[in-house]
Amino acid sequence: MSRTEPAVPPPPDRARVQEAAWWLSGRVVRTPVLNSPVIDRLAGARVLLKAENLQAGGSYKMRGAMLAVGRLAAAGHGGVVAQSTGNHAVAVALAARRHGLTATVVLPADAAQTKVARARAAGAEVVVAGTTLDERVATARQISETRGHPLIDAYDHPDVIAGQGSASLELIEEAERVGSPLDALVVPVGGAGGVAGACLAAAGTTIQVYGVEPVGCDSLARSLAAGRPTPVAPAPTIADGLRPTCVGELPFAIARDAIRGVVRVDDDQIADAFRLLLMELKVLVEPSGAAGLAGALRLAASLGDDVVDRPGAGPEGGRREEYRTVGVVLTGGNVEAELVARLATRQLADLTSVEEVAA
Ligand SMILES: Cc1ncc(COP(=O)(O)O)c(C=O)c1O
Repeated sequence: MSRTEPAVPPPPDRARVQEAAWWLSGRVVRTPVLNSPVIDRLAGARVLLKAENLQAGGSYKMRGAMLAVGRLAAAGHGGVVAQSTGNHAVAVALAARRHGLTATVVLPADAAQTKVARARAAGAEVVVAGTTLDERVATARQISETRGHPLIDAYDHPDVIAGQGSASLELIEEAERVGSPLDALVVPVGGAGGVAGACLAAAGTTIQVYGVEPVGCDSLARSLAAGRPTPVAPAPTIADGLRPTCVGELPFAIARDAIRGVVRVDDDQIADAFRLLLMELKVLVEPSGAAGLAGALRLAASLGDDVVDRPGAGPEGGRREEYRTVGVVLTGGNVEAELVARLATRQLADLTSVEEVAA
């Protein structure tokens, strides 16, 4: 971030995502795009998977955090504050250390211990506050005011949206480079920063962007139906990063006219996607990261109520298009060893079906 950059980021658009990708190049990992014939066969489409689980800090949250912290460092701030279920906190902690700033991160009492440990290892002061978003936000605001350190929101923030969008932009570009341009792009949704960034990255193309939400954590689907950000009381899910009470105002303002729709997935479908990625690609993702693939598989199957189009965005006559190439952002890989063991052992029961497809 140059010193001529404004201290307050401008509203994001496609150009901001391109600038973000340019600025982040060399500062974060350019993660690989993976593909598996078995997954392609199951999806009935070519599926290109952007492995942000291999990103610095273990998730795509590093992109937005680097951009936001970089701007604040250039503006002369000495410290930053963040709250999240884990990955944004880890990313802000790492980004602050790289820029020589202090970081205070507020995490829930039930945060995955691997995320807490990673934030501490990156040098952040970890504050534990309740289990709800409201409790974390109140604590983070108070710390921000007391210390005079700006609060970096996990999704309702222009730099965070543009930074997260750079992962989608790289995927779109890589798909074009290998001669398989994307027809659809699928991104898991928590506060919707990532999917809003995907909408900006895809702006001006024919790529249809879908968000993926766990059943009962479908604030984006409800918000699209209602025409305004609509909270839910999030249901339990193994995808801990996809449980905010409500999508952010700015992500919603971007997605509301640009997103094609939302796919709802349950924990079993997320677990199936987790095992596919582990066994077929030898890639370890966290459940929130696997949700994107789970959504892409449901989208391909186009089953029942799983896919909800944004009002006015559905196909004529209700028949969904077939997508030849679908991009998926595997958003993160910070997962507890115990959860890996639990999810992986179910693989034994499902192995036959995967082998049948591979045969
Ligand atoms: C791995 C992972 N994927 C997806 C998300 C959701 O991102 P967003 O809040 O930008 O929708 C999160 C949020 O923490 C996450 O950690």
